Amino acid sequence: MLIQLTYASRTARALGPADIKDILGASQRNNLKAGITGSLCLNNGIFLQQLEGDRAAVNALYHRLLKDIRHRDTAVLDFCEIPHRRFTGWSMGLLTSVEANRQLFLKYSSSADFDPYSMSTATLRSFFEEVMQNVRWLE
Ligand SMILES: Cc1cc2nc3c(=O)[nH]c(=O)nc-3n(C[C@H](O)[C@H](O)[C@H](O)COP(=O)(O)O)c2cc1C
Repeated sequence: MLIQLTYASRTARALGPADIKDILGASQRNNLKAGITGSLCLNNGIFLQQLEGDRAAVNALYHRLLKDIRHRDTAVLDFCEIPHRRFTGWSMGLLTSVEANRQLFLKYSSSADFDPYSMSTATLRSFFEEVMQNVRWLE
């Protein structure tokens, strides 16, 4: 069964480019094997990740993620069955707060800071819908 899980977390410490490279490298390698796709946003010290794939595979990954000391305050924001994937081309895409993406983050925020913890399910879904169409991705 194909599902989508969206969660947020806070960086446990200031993460540098090497940390991000390590997270993305492991994600792309493992997710490809596990048939998981998705995207990871990092803005203002908050991660927002949407994972798509087989229910058991995504659950197993989420349990692994909970043990990762690079982030804390992990909270599931949305979990649902989906008819198809959205991020078909991405074993894990990364979206950061570069200038070109700032307006996108702001568009879905009620305050000046992007705060996924306070976003409704509908807003989160619209955000990720747009993420696929109009962002500057980091390789
Ligand atoms: C915010 C965040 C997102 C992550 N996303 C993934 C992911 O999508 N897939 C993955 O395999 N690991 C992800 N990781 C890394 C895992 O927690 C873990 O370090 C990694 O899967 C271990 O892989 P390895 O055993 O191949 O080194 C993420 C870590 C963080 C902090």
